[in-house]
Amino acid sequence: VLIVYTLAVMNQKGGVGKTTVTINLGGALAELGYRVLLVDLDPQGHLTEACDVPETTAPATLAKVLLMDADRLGLDQVQALITNWRERIDVIPTNIDAFLLERELYRMRGVEYRLQRVLEQIEGRDVYDVCLIDCPPSLGVLTDNALVAAGQALIPVQSEDSALRALRLLLEQVATMQAELRVSIELLGMVVNLFDKRRGQIVTSTLETLRTMPLPILGIVPDRAALRESWRAGVPVVVYAPDTDAAQAYRDLAKALTTGGQDNAGTGAGQ
Ligand SMILES: Nc1ncnc2c1ncn2[C@@H]1O[C@H](COP(=O)(O)OP(=O)(O)O)[C@@H](O)[C@H]1O
Ligand SMILES: [Mg+2]
Repeated sequence: VLIVYTLAVMNQKGGVGKTTVTINLGGALAELGYRVLLVDLDPQGHLTEACDVPETTAPATLAKVLLMDADRLGLDQVQALITNWRERIDVIPTNIDAFLLERELYRMRGVEYRLQRVLEQIEGRDVYDVCLIDCPPSLGVLTDNALVAAGQALIPVQSEDSALRALRLLLEQVATMQAELRVSIELLGMVVNLFDKRRGQIVTSTLETLRTMPLPILGIVPDRAALRESWRAGVPVVVYAPDTDAAQAYRDLAKALTTGGQDNAGTGAGQ
């Protein structure tokens, strides 16, 4: 049984693997039989591009629906955003008008609750088992929206010194947000990504420091060409290279998100 329904994949640092984790965790969960919805909340649209789903065209765009008045928003508006990517995986892609979204959102009321309102329309309808939100590389209003909508978050990190500083900032920000908005956000844990033990001492000692953080390590994903190649091929790594340790790392991560699966944490490849 999954311990998540909506999960924000967040870290204000770019290039740590948010998009890669969102896509490939989605792939591994779909392989287990779960029905997955991926949401591209990064205006840069890397997930939309990687899944090679057509960008939504007006009038149905995620940005427009996020800005919509509550009385106009319904299931139809949200369904119009959803595209099928592959078996058991649907995507809400982004498009070019998301670049203006952040600025426009600041002028609105209930600014942090916009995505929650949108995803509520499909929640409880037994269409998806899990929804993964790919966040932009910032601690801005869009990431706040993802956290409020999800209530649970997964944090990809790289095993390097700058990760620790970024992580402390992230924890502070989430704590502040919880207090200010009186919402509860459960940080499920970290995924140590791009792990390369051949880089030696620094990487392993940073990993030891990460282990002292008040967040569990739910998975370790090695630095592998298969992940870059599968991205380029537009398929999850469990499909592109099913027999690799990279694919296995994502299967382990998926299992860590199911009850009884926590025992697998950190036993992924690259250890
Ligand atoms: N474990 C990995 N092994 C090899 N390449 C990776 C791995 N994780 C991510 N990448 C590559 O690193 C780059 C940044 O990853 P991405 O998921 O876009 O980060 P973010 O979304 O946090 O900015 C991408 O080109 C991706 O293909
Ligand atoms: Mg990204």
